[in-house]
Amino acid sequence: MPIQQVVGPSSRAGMFLVLTIQEGGEATVRDFLADLPGLVRGVSFRYPEHELMTVAGIGANLWDRLYAVPRPLHLHPFAEIKGAKHTAVSTPGDLLIHLRARHLDICFELARQVSERLKWVGEVVDEVHGFKFFDDRDLLGFVDGTENPEGGKAEAAVMVGDEDATYAGSSYVIVQKYLHDMDAWRALSTEDQEKVIGRSKLENIEMSDDVKPSNSHIALNVIEDADGTQRQIVRENMPFGQIGTQEFGTYFIGYAADPGITEEMLRNMFIGKPEGNTDRILDFSTPVTGSLYFVPTEDFLDDQPAAR
Ligand code: HEM
Repeated sequence: MPIQQVVGPSSRAGMFLVLTIQEGGEATVRDFLADLPGLVRGVSFRYPEHELMTVAGIGANLWDRLYAVPRPLHLHPFAEIKGAKHTAVSTPGDLLIHLRARHLDICFELARQVSERLKWVGEVVDEVHGFKFFDDRDLLGFVDGTENPEGGKAEAAVMVGDEDATYAGSSYVIVQKYLHDMDAWRALSTEDQEKVIGRSKLENIEMSDDVKPSNSHIALNVIEDADGTQRQIVRENMPFGQIGTQEFGTYFIGYAADPGITEEMLRNMFIGKPEGNTDRILDFSTPVTGSLYFVPTEDFLDDQPAAR
């Protein structure tokens, strides 16, 4: 019954709920967070084979309203990143609920119970039901998630350590809902699409450095720290869509021990590296939301700091 566990098995279905919380709803939210592990148990105990994973994230402004202690080291509102051509928008979000399982029904049932608890104090401002698409591909047709760190490396990438000892074992998450311009994308040849991503489409192989364009998605998202170690995040992106409205998208969700890593990737994508050399994926994908959350441990939910 993993709760607040960020790294886990690949799930076929997912739900993303972003909520805003009204003034005065703080006590209800605190109670809800304390009860969340019990709610999760009530659903997942009956279907352990569905591997339900639940993560609740708390936005910076809500933290200040809930707790009389300073924010965790890296918790801040997501700041818009505006380049000459593309903008990573910042949109409201006090709570993020990220649910994953083998099947959507179990996510839906828990989401319904969450909404039941929060309906008088919160508004769901964004709701996405995602699914894994053939071969773990996104709707652009490329396998998504291949270079995610695994096992111990994934844990190290997402978990806060001694740098903020009070919150060791916690994590941070940034989410963005991207919509794709499928007509423009399909107008590209497969070879040109591969240059946008920096990997081959069918075989899912990374291009060698001499052929990979500097504005490809991969080139701009492989980043290193001063001593040459790769700075990694764990992504759990999911495709979503609506046939009637012809809405096709990717829900980006990136977990990290330090959201500054994800923000550096976003600056590379939206402002460009060097400036102006922006990610080609953005010519076909536009974010319509963007927000940042702190993901506390299960123990924290059980024993929350004093109320403000
Ligand atoms: C429209 C939204 C996006 C789509 C469709 C997308 C798709 C992909 C695909 C197909 C790959 C190659 C396979 C792999 O997962 O390793 C990839 C890699 C990657 N993406 Fe994205 N991505 C999106 C947004 C983002 C954003 C917003 C970030 C960071 C803020 C990001 C960070 C990365 C990273 C770090 C890699 C792995 C690079 C490597 O180590 O090779 N992606 N993405």
